[in-house]
Amino acid sequence: MSQKAMKTVLRKIFLLKRQYNNLPLFQFMRDDSIDAAKRLSFFPCMAHFIMSFGDLNKYVLRSEPAADKFQEKVNLHSYEDDHHWPWYLEDFQKLGYDLPTRPTDLMRFLWGEETHKNRVLMYQLTAMIAQANGAERIAIIEAIEETGNVLFTTMLDLAKTLEGRYGVELRYCGVHHHALESGHAVASEHEEIAAIDLDEASTQRCLAWADQVFDLFEDWTNELLAYARRTTPTASAPDRRTSYGAELLS
Ligand SMILES: [Fe+2]
Ligand SMILES: [Fe+2]
Repeated sequence: MSQKAMKTVLRKIFLLKRQYNNLPLFQFMRDDSIDAAKRLSFFPCMAHFIMSFGDLNKYVLRSEPAADKFQEKVNLHSYEDDHHWPWYLEDFQKLGYDLPTRPTDLMRFLWGEETHKNRVLMYQLTAMIAQANGAERIAIIEAIEETGNVLFTTMLDLAKTLEGRYGVELRYCGVHHHALESGHAVASEHEEIAAIDLDEASTQRCLAWADQVFDLFEDWTNELLAYARRTTPTASAPDRRTSYGAELLS
């Protein structure tokens, strides 16, 4: 394998990102003929994954003391990304999803069949990261970040519309989060990452993991889309509340 094999991995990630960007969920989110609240109504469905993402950073990606300079980089990144879930809770409330729900019903929803891809995504990422060394973790983070970039970029317009409609700031869905996420995926950092050398076996593992990351996230987006299609949010605040957990209502 050529020197700087991480460049090959990054190139693959960008090709995968291009396909990911065209998935049905993102087409649905960009479809102006559908009301913005409906287009964002997958929001409660992603709770398990979003809330666990802080843990993935704190307890899975991070390893202290770092064994090498790559793991050091991973650790730094983990501190940037481990505390975004409170903004999700904030938006959850502002979007009208903070319903009086029995804890047992909520748990049935979070661990039920209709949200299982959320959990599988987290468990599989955890298994993958546990096998990866520092440099390989950087490749996995890159793949995860690019899926996030598609989601957060596509959400911007919806956030703007709903912020205007409800008179609130959506810190998870809107510019606040997007700006921070774009901050740690800037071009200069990509150049630095592209210069990482990987041996042949490591390169092959990273290429396979990149594929797997995008496959897992694709399944996740399909679960979110199916959920959004099932729910029927009403358009006007304060009656914008929608039920979540179709299964628990039946
Ligand atoms: Fe984030
Ligand atoms: Fe991030």
